[in-house]
Amino acid sequence: MLKGNQISRKKLKKMIKVLFVCLGNICRSPLAEAIFKEKVQKRGLENYFSIDSAGTSDYHLRSSPDPRTILIAEKYNIPIEHKARQFSVRDGQDYDYVIAMDFSNRENILKVAGGSISSLFLMRDFDPGPGDREVPDPYFGAEDGFENVYRILDRSADSLLNYLIKEHKLSNV
Ligand code: 4NP
Repeated sequence: MLKGNQISRKKLKKMIKVLFVCLGNICRSPLAEAIFKEKVQKRGLENYFSIDSAGTSDYHLRSSPDPRTILIAEKYNIPIEHKARQFSVRDGQDYDYVIAMDFSNRENILKVAGGSISSLFLMRDFDPGPGDREVPDPYFGAEDGFENVYRILDRSADSLLNYLIKEHKLSNV
């Protein structure tokens, strides 16, 4: 039990800041954010993480996720709550892990953040499965594109979380 001005070790530790980035911030990255948050919560690690998502474009600012994104999240019981926002220079400085969905997102992030970006990855750097290195953009495609995106994000998020647990020695804290 903590008393007075004692601060828990958890609070003293710096939060690990993770930002998922796609183009519109209404399909892939808000779903990645929601899936990753759910996994973090299930493992009781929510005090260690600050998790958000953003888009490189301003096409859908302040919009809720695409209805098809909400449907697939509901199908898998993943709570999803987000308003689209645009990736900024500040994000590049603030986040420890900026995770792009595809090559063009990565290029656009680098254009905005320049050399100030500390840790830029592709989501599928963490995908243990075979195949493409990009999370395909499902916006103009059919409904099953969202199922495919969900599966890619689910397995990549598992392995991203395992990587971060190891990297930050979270199980030993
Ligand atoms: P997201 O998908 O980048 O995964 O959110 C898209 C959403 C909107 C558009 C393109 C991709 N758009 O062109 O409006």
